[in-house]
Amino acid sequence: MEDDNSPQTQSVDSNSSAVNASGVEEARKRDEGDPLSGFSTHFSLPDELYLEGNSLGPLSDAAEARLEEAIEQWRTLGIEGWSEADPSWFWYGERLGEKLAPLLGASPEECVATGTTTTNIHATISTFLDKCDDDKGILVNDLDFPSDHYAIRGQLRQRGLDPEDHLHIVESRDGRTIETDDIIAAMDENDIGIVFMPGVLYRSGQLFDIETITREAHERDIYAGFDLAHSVGAVPHDLSAHGVDFAVWCSYKYLNGGPGAVGGLYINERHFGTMPSLAGWWGHEKETQFDMELEFTPAQSAGGWQITAVPLFSSAPLLGSLELVHEAGIEPIREKSIELTDYLIALVDEQLEDCTVGTPRDSARRGGHVAIEHPDAYQVSQALRDSGAIVDYREPNVIRACPAPLYVSFEETYEFVQLLDEILESESYKSYESDASGVT
Ligand SMILES: Cc1ncc(COP(=O)(O)O)c(C=O)c1O
Repeated sequence: MEDDNSPQTQSVDSNSSAVNASGVEEARKRDEGDPLSGFSTHFSLPDELYLEGNSLGPLSDAAEARLEEAIEQWRTLGIEGWSEADPSWFWYGERLGEKLAPLLGASPEECVATGTTTTNIHATISTFLDKCDDDKGILVNDLDFPSDHYAIRGQLRQRGLDPEDHLHIVESRDGRTIETDDIIAAMDENDIGIVFMPGVLYRSGQLFDIETITREAHERDIYAGFDLAHSVGAVPHDLSAHGVDFAVWCSYKYLNGGPGAVGGLYINERHFGTMPSLAGWWGHEKETQFDMELEFTPAQSAGGWQITAVPLFSSAPLLGSLELVHEAGIEPIREKSIELTDYLIALVDEQLEDCTVGTPRDSARRGGHVAIEHPDAYQVSQALRDSGAIVDYREPNVIRACPAPLYVSFEETYEFVQLLDEILESESYKSYESDASGVT
């Protein structure tokens, strides 16, 4: 796979030439041909342009209905809800796993809704470290989301392994992306037991080549795991066909499950029967869970990696929002996402000379958001929020803009770039605080 992604050396591709010349008419024409345009009516959106779907997806009517249904079940069924509710609360994580499986390219048993990205990293990394030889380390990269490293360092320390020696970090060449060849070159079977990479990088939005990374890892007897927080629901996955060992994700971004929604994990079926290292009663074989044996018998499925009782009210909205995702279809979602991000990139290239696109231009290497770089990105992101476009800022110079296919139109994407242009031209952003602090 071609990995050279230096934005400075790339030209605008033919798909995106001169999109601004025809302005808003072009955007409207694209919206007219969009098969997903009706889905935005399902979402409660603020008056502002909402380009934060890669951070926190909005509430949908379907999610709200499932949450209200769960509250009603609690009211009317009380404790009977564990068995009488539909789906029963006892099996809720597994039922959600069945609905998540097609998005991951997995069998229903290989997926479960549980925990959060970080707790699921603890649960899976600890299990796969147990399966490695004693002194094997973990391969990650220097553009990862920090929580992943915190958890992995903690797991290494638990085993008396110094992270300075056992956390191996692939370095980015350009500060934006990680080259597949560099990951492969760092896979030394003498030192590495697990390679753990993101599906999509949280800052630049680079999509990783999961198939190649997994294949190369397995050729060296290395396990391959992935953090799919920024790709699930935006990019179709094929984890089982690629033989991925394990994966984790959250549901509050493209899956619109709500703030702090239950996360998920994938365990390849060839690892069923492995003892989960962070065992808890919710991972017990369901049929005998209430025998209350003190010996842990794990479920022979991804469900075995659940630790604690299902958090119903952070799970129910996900059931509803997944209904919408399936109604739309992950392939059409991805198709529209590529068109929207191509369009956004082309507009930035044509119109905003002070900005650089830090996201790969090859759509096969891009997730669902676009990183727009500007030296005063924090100030600009605040000005955008105050002027009607909700985006976020990531250190050191990135404005992340996510035209999420289920509720963002081409016209809104066009309006966003006009707004950004106005803010940059007028320099109104200069009156904002330049020190980033708090939630950005
Ligand atoms: C790539 C990635 N990994 C991990 C996390 C942490 O997620 P959680 O709070 O679900 O543990 C995030 C949060 O945004 C993320 O984007």
